[in-house]
Amino acid sequence: MTYQVPAGEPPLGALACPEPEDRPDLWPTTARRTPDGELALGGLTVSEILTDAPSPVFVLDEADLRGRAASWAAAMHEEFWPSYGMAGGEAFYAGKAFLATKVAQWALEEGMGIDTASRGELTVSLAALQEVGGEDATRLGLHGNGKTQAEIAVALGHHLGHLVLDSLEEVELAARAVRDLRANGVFGPEETGRVMVRLTTGVHAGGHEFIATAHEDQKFGLSVHAGTARQAIDVIIAAPELELHGLHSHIGSQIMDLAGFREAARVVLTLRHEVAADTGHLCPEVDLGGGYGIAYTGADPVPPSPAEVARTLAETVRELCTELGDPVPHVSVEPGRSVAGPTTVTLYTVTGLKRVELGEGTSRLYVSIDGGMSDNIRPALYEAAYTALVANRRPDPSVGLTRARVVGKHCESGDVVVRDVDLPADLSVGDVLAVPATGAYGRSMASSYNLFTRPGVRWVREGESGWILRPETIDDLLRLEG
Ligand code: LLP
Repeated sequence: MTYQVPAGEPPLGALACPEPEDRPDLWPTTARRTPDGELALGGLTVSEILTDAPSPVFVLDEADLRGRAASWAAAMHEEFWPSYGMAGGEAFYAGKAFLATKVAQWALEEGMGIDTASRGELTVSLAALQEVGGEDATRLGLHGNGKTQAEIAVALGHHLGHLVLDSLEEVELAARAVRDLRANGVFGPEETGRVMVRLTTGVHAGGHEFIATAHEDQKFGLSVHAGTARQAIDVIIAAPELELHGLHSHIGSQIMDLAGFREAARVVLTLRHEVAADTGHLCPEVDLGGGYGIAYTGADPVPPSPAEVARTLAETVRELCTELGDPVPHVSVEPGRSVAGPTTVTLYTVTGLKRVELGEGTSRLYVSIDGGMSDNIRPALYEAAYTALVANRRPDPSVGLTRARVVGKHCESGDVVVRDVDLPADLSVGDVLAVPATGAYGRSMASSYNLFTRPGVRWVREGESGWILRPETIDDLLRLEG
């Protein structure tokens, strides 16, 4: 049976999900079809995974996550290797993409630091640091706008490598926190708190307005152009409690073109130069943030590798510093999505099929699954595109395809997980769909809307599996009731 696609849409077949061998960057590195035609991840078929884990479930390929973390750490270490005028480089995993103790532990073991954005993320990262036997909390960072004095005091008390201040108020809170830490004997009488300043560089980049962060008209950072950044910097330099360690820029998220990072580096390094010229204080570190894009569907380009990103940043920083006549700073980056995103696949079970006739012989198949916007809010929030592959069997090409929309079971018409995908025309209730690239901002942004229980996150590795996060239960939800 051949189904016609609605008018104005790409031809049937154009929106089919690529198999792992066709677009390896879209899938975890261990994803492949078994000879029987099932999708396997980490050496386990989807039916084996679903025997131990209820659908829907996030399946995270541990080897892939470790590999991506190791690539970022190595790329930054190598490209900024402290010789020939370089002063070292470092990659921090932005835990907001997805954080649990195991994941933080793997990132640390593979040589990344961890960047956190809340008390919760920081607590998990400190636990992971302990798990790996590390004492050195300079491998951790804390971000966020509107930090409280308590949060700032925790960061300072643990001697985090990066405490990134986001406002003039936070500068004052940090100074106050240091005075308290000195008074409590946690800090020595002369000890200072090491801080960085988040800059708004005016560079606008990113996949969607809600995830672009360095243009002027938004809540993050202190403006270079309007002078508030310089004001905060001068207050920090003058404060006997604080030590200005570095300048920080994060221009947005899901960025494929590296030009924006080069432009932001120019603004940051120029400010560093001006501050040094005026005050004699040359910031030892510059953090160029995260935001490196990934592919979500076959229509997306293959993103630059960590090595390519690090090389471009190193060339840019070296050139700019030569131009300015400044020593090169220690340089750090904070990738989140590009570490976690492609490591994870969400497995859903098809629960219903509804063909909607759209006139002139065209139609769309609405495919209901056992999850939805509570486990992936990104399509509803950012119009993010995803794709889906039938994972429990190899589709028979002779059956043909149909234009489909994969929808969740929430009470919202915007509850769409995959807006447009070509699926086998014989798709049936009970089939398993695998949605790739859900490792970043999937489970971490999940909700219990409609009192859904949030899915678990299962690690897979060489034929073994276990929980990173177990699935939430109704009892977990009820436990919060007063
Ligand atoms: N550093 C800072 C200061 C950030 O604010 C972020 C992300 C990152 C690093 C990591 O960015 P990444 O490499 O993951 O793009 N929920 C949105 C993304 C929000 C990103 C917020 N900040 C989404 O699902 O696309």
